[in-house]
Amino acid sequence: MKALNNTVIVVGGGGREAALARQLAQSPRVGQVIVAPGNAGVLGFAKTAPVAVTDLAGQVRLARDLQADLVVVAPDDPLALGLTDRLLEAGIMAFGPRQAAARLESSKSFAKTVMREAGIPTARSVICDNLAAARDYAQTCDLPVVVKADGLALGKGVFICQTRAEALEAVTSLMDLHAFGQAGNTLLFEECLNGPELTVLLFTDGVHYALMPPSRDHKRAQDGDRGPNTGGMGVVVPGARLSEPEWQLIRQQIIEPTLKLMQDRRTPFCGVLYVGLMLTQQGPKVIEYNARFGDPECQTVLPLLQTDLLDILEACTAGTLDEIELSWKAAASCCVVMASGGYPGSYQKGREISGLEAAERLSGVTVYQAGTALDYQGRLITAGGRVLDVVATAPDLADAIRQAYKAVDAIHFDQAYYRRDIGGSDNPLLKEAR
Ligand code: AMP
Ligand code: GLY
Repeated sequence: MKALNNTVIVVGGGGREAALARQLAQSPRVGQVIVAPGNAGVLGFAKTAPVAVTDLAGQVRLARDLQADLVVVAPDDPLALGLTDRLLEAGIMAFGPRQAAARLESSKSFAKTVMREAGIPTARSVICDNLAAARDYAQTCDLPVVVKADGLALGKGVFICQTRAEALEAVTSLMDLHAFGQAGNTLLFEECLNGPELTVLLFTDGVHYALMPPSRDHKRAQDGDRGPNTGGMGVVVPGARLSEPEWQLIRQQIIEPTLKLMQDRRTPFCGVLYVGLMLTQQGPKVIEYNARFGDPECQTVLPLLQTDLLDILEACTAGTLDEIELSWKAAASCCVVMASGGYPGSYQKGREISGLEAAERLSGVTVYQAGTALDYQGRLITAGGRVLDVVATAPDLADAIRQAYKAVDAIHFDQAYYRRDIGGSDNPLLKEAR
C-alpha cells in the first residue's frame, strides 16, 4: 500500500459509516475517503458515490475506478453476500470478513454450531426449519422463550415471548408471513437468559486481536427496556466495569476459542468481531456474534480511539495486528439515537432537521447523521428510522450522558423520538428526575 494519500472507500450509508469515514479522514496518510453510498452528513469530510451496498459488481467497479487502496466493508448485508471475497479476488485490499467467516452473523444456527464445537457458553437452543415443527415446539417449550430468525433481520428478528400465544405469533410472523423474508425460513428457540448485556468489539487479523472498550447498547425501543427490539437506540462506553479475572474469562472462554475454531475450519475471521454477551449469574454467555462494528457502538467507541484507524485496519488485513499497540482515551462516551416517531415500525420521512450546529458547538459533542437527506432546496430532512446519532465524550460517564442529552435538546425535527434512559443506572438525568 502507498504510504501517503491513500484512497479509502467505506461501504455503507448510515451513522456507523459516517463515524468510520470521519475517523479515517483524520489519518495523515489518507488522501480521500469515499462513502458508498453514504449520506448527506458525510460531505464535510468525505465524498459520496451512489452505489448500493448490495451491488457487489458496482462496488468492485468503484474501487477499481478509484484505484482504492483499501475498502472497508461495514454493513452486514454485503459481508454476508461476499463483497470482501469479490474485492480480494479483484486484487483490491478489503477490510471485513470473507463470506464464510461472516456466517457467524448471517446464520444464527451456524453461530450456535461454532459455539457448541468450541464449548463457548451460550443459551441452550433448538433449531427448527419447518413450520409444523416450530409450531409444535412453541406449544410445548418452557416459557419464557426467545424466538429468533436464523438470518439477517436488521436486529428486529428476535422476539422475547412470555406466553405461548406470543411464541406462536412470533413463529407465524417469521415463518408463515415471512416478516423478514428468507431470514425466517429457519428459526431458533432459545432459553431466555437474564442479566446485564455487554458488547465486546475487537479488531482481529484472524489470529491476533485487540479489544475495544466494552460498550452497552440499548436495543429495545422504549425507556425501561420495553417495546420491540430495534437496531439500537443508544450506547454507553464503558458498558460495564469488569475486573481483570472477568476479562480473562471472556478472553479465554469466548474470544480465543471463537477465533481458534474459525482458523481450524480454514475460514479465519478477519475484521471487527462483535461479541454480544449477557452477564448471567453463571458467568458471561454469548447472545450473538456480529461480523462487523455495531451501529451505534461504532460511533460511540471510535471517538475514544487515539491510534490511527488506517494503521489498525491495514494491520488486520496484513496479519500484523500484534505489531501495533492500540491506545484509547481514558474517557467515557454516550450516544443517544434520535429516531423518527414510529420506528422500528412505520414512520414518516421528509421532516426538516434544525439545531445541529448548536449541538455540535457543545464541548465533546459530535453528531453523526444516519437517516438524513438534502431536499430540493438543500434543507436537511429525515430520510430513515434512525436519523441522528448524538455522541458526547467526557472524562466521566455521567458527564458524557448529560452532555449528549444537552445536545439532543438543541436538535429539532417533527416527531423526533429518543430514549431518555440511555446509560440506565449511570444516567444522572434519571437520578435527578427521582
Ligand atoms: P440478537 O439479535 O440475537 O442479539 O438479539 C437481540 C436482543 O434480544 C439481545 O440484545 C437481547 O436483548 C435479546 N436476546 C437475545 N437472545 C436472548 C436470550 N437468549 N435471552 C434473553 N434475551 C435475549
Ligand atoms: N447495535 C447493534 C448492532 O449493530 O447489531
